[in-house]
Amino acid sequence: MKVCRTVADFRAARAGATAPLGLVPTMGALHEGHLSLVRRARGECASVAMSIFVNPTQFGPHEDFTRYPRPIERDHALAEAAGVDLVFNPSVEEMYPAGFATYVDGGGPALRWEGERRLGHFRGVATVVTKLFTVIAPQRAYFGEKDYQQLQVVRRLVADLNLPVEIAGCPVVREPDGLALSSRNVYLAPDERPHATALYRALTTGRKCVAAGERDAAAVRRAMETVLISTPGATIDYVAVVDPVTLEPLERVDGPARALIAARLGLVRLIDNAPLVDLNQG
Ligand code: PAJ
Repeated sequence: MKVCRTVADFRAARAGATAPLGLVPTMGALHEGHLSLVRRARGECASVAMSIFVNPTQFGPHEDFTRYPRPIERDHALAEAAGVDLVFNPSVEEMYPAGFATYVDGGGPALRWEGERRLGHFRGVATVVTKLFTVIAPQRAYFGEKDYQQLQVVRRLVADLNLPVEIAGCPVVREPDGLALSSRNVYLAPDERPHATALYRALTTGRKCVAAGERDAAAVRRAMETVLISTPGATIDYVAVVDPVTLEPLERVDGPARALIAARLGLVRLIDNAPLVDLNQG
């Protein structure tokens, strides 16, 4: 496995990689969720690249950029064991040199939910993802459904800017009790951790509600909210029933629909999502 810290180094190393090249973009602090994307890429591509970059432009001024975990030696070992060939691990200065002034700012699926609550977040994501696609030039790129809105924002970005990369969405990897794996789960205090399953339990409740025949999105939402409201220490940020491509809220669950949840457990903000109907979730 070769680790490159500059754009020039990566481009030189990439010249020797066999096509197709698959990319797994990450911010490091790797866990099984990230590694599931690597394994999928390994199975489908001749070469696999991973980017490890804690991207400052997607963090708000009061978010956790400085304390975001950065266990870089461990990340390299996990990436290598999972079959990554090339790692791109640039510095902030390499990605955003003095004078940097050009951003990619999406509309459509970027506008609501995380877009409203984390102003500038998707602008940072879209900008860094565009740069990573330009530097790494993968034929395919792998994103987790864990960050479902991000996945749809990236799909929109690639279509709108005609980027020559195929986007693969991969299922959420969960702990045995249902908590979606996340690099931020380490922030959960031991007494909060058991309650963090509330998001998954709420999603399961929403799915059951729809399976039992409920079609009114507000009723499905209320059933999910009830689970969160009865969880000690949990506060709801949003519970939404949306079109799985546009992320616009739905009134009726008559076709493909996705449930999105953001909630706080104490001070830790968690997000999760699930399809409400299993067919053709895009
Ligand atoms: P990060 O949070 O490190 O996640 C990297 C990728 O791993 C994302 O596509 C994310 O959806 C996926 N992932 C995280 N947890 C997962 C889980 N439990 N199951 C399945 N996939 C999971 O997302 C980012 O980084 C950044 O925004 C990035 C795209 C790298 C741009 O900076």
